[in-house]
Amino acid sequence: MATAAIIGTAGYVGQETLDRVLAHPELELVALGSDTFAGQPAARLDPRLDASIPPFVTNADAAASGSDAIFLCLAHGEAAAFEPPAGAVVVDLSGAHRLTDPALAQAWYDAVPGAWSYGLPELYPPQGRLIANPGCYATAALLALGPLAGVTDGAVIDAKSGVSGAGKSLTASSHAGFVLENLSPYAVGTHRHAPEIAQQLGFAVCFVPHLLPVRRGLLATCYVQTDADVRELLDAAYDDCTAVRVLAEGVAPELSRVQGTDTAELGVFTDGATGTAIVICALDNLGKGAAGQAVQNANLALGLEPTAGLRLSGVLV
Ligand SMILES: NC(=O)c1ccc[n+]([C@@H]2O[C@H](COP(=O)([O-])OP(=O)(O)OC[C@H]3O[C@@H](n4cnc5c(N)ncnc54)[C@H](OP(=O)(O)O)[C@@H]3O)[C@@H](O)[C@H]2O)c1
Repeated sequence: MATAAIIGTAGYVGQETLDRVLAHPELELVALGSDTFAGQPAARLDPRLDASIPPFVTNADAAASGSDAIFLCLAHGEAAAFEPPAGAVVVDLSGAHRLTDPALAQAWYDAVPGAWSYGLPELYPPQGRLIANPGCYATAALLALGPLAGVTDGAVIDAKSGVSGAGKSLTASSHAGFVLENLSPYAVGTHRHAPEIAQQLGFAVCFVPHLLPVRRGLLATCYVQTDADVRELLDAAYDDCTAVRVLAEGVAPELSRVQGTDTAELGVFTDGATGTAIVICALDNLGKGAAGQAVQNANLALGLEPTAGLRLSGVLV
């Protein structure tokens, strides 16, 4: 068994990562870090967590636990300041270590802590022990567009995410009174996942995110001009992948099939009027878009079964 610690467990991403680690057959949780809940039992986070689970310690104590794997589930400013302990595999689920260009890191994250290996297992497997887990929107856009990087030089991405994408703290734009019965674009043309997507694809993208009135799930519709056979390229890229599925012709991805899972669905279409290729990706922002992918990355870095601990199937209704 490899040992694991989670840092920043009180947030949505930390809580989801804890669930994956507890279900993992080859990881043993040895330290549960949270500066909010330090000193309290795990049940403080969720009454279903029993006394066999280690109680909360401070994030500093969890980092010093000597664990083989550390899941960093903090806001990006705190993640940028984190000193990785020698020898541990550290997966940062924030954006702090994703951008390789220091000027872009400064502009979008106000810090230049240095880029770590960008780990999206199906397309860009992580190298080494310090891993930058991709953003949730970036994961969906890259799964749709990554296999097309050599056959187009631009894309338009229209994406929508459930409210958990904004984290646990209440803000005016995550308040039920604003979110319910609403659909609102935000950070139009100014979202920090756009440079991340462009970095991996090698070309700029036009990206507009929207807030959906659901708790979890994310769907990105990507529009591309290309003469290539898009379905053939996607089929080839994900042929032997367990967590990413290219749907049959005419079948569209749906949030309900990926919510609560660590899988992603891709649908491939062509607009009859303009010939525009349309690739749609659905995933769970907290699953394949965060905790599930972080565990996948840790599995690869630790030499474990690649999909161990992942939730690979959901329910239909
Ligand atoms: N939400 C997503 O869909 C998503 C997807 C991919 C990546 N990410 C990234 O992952 C990181 C964590 O995101 P998140 O959505 O988990 O953010 P969050 O819910 O706001 O939590 C961030 C941190 O703040 C503390 N915290 C925040 N609210 C709290 C509350 N109400 N009660 C107790 N503690 C609270 C926790 O640290 P302590 O436990 O130490 O107190 C936690 O690690 C961010 O960098 C984010 O950009 C998020």
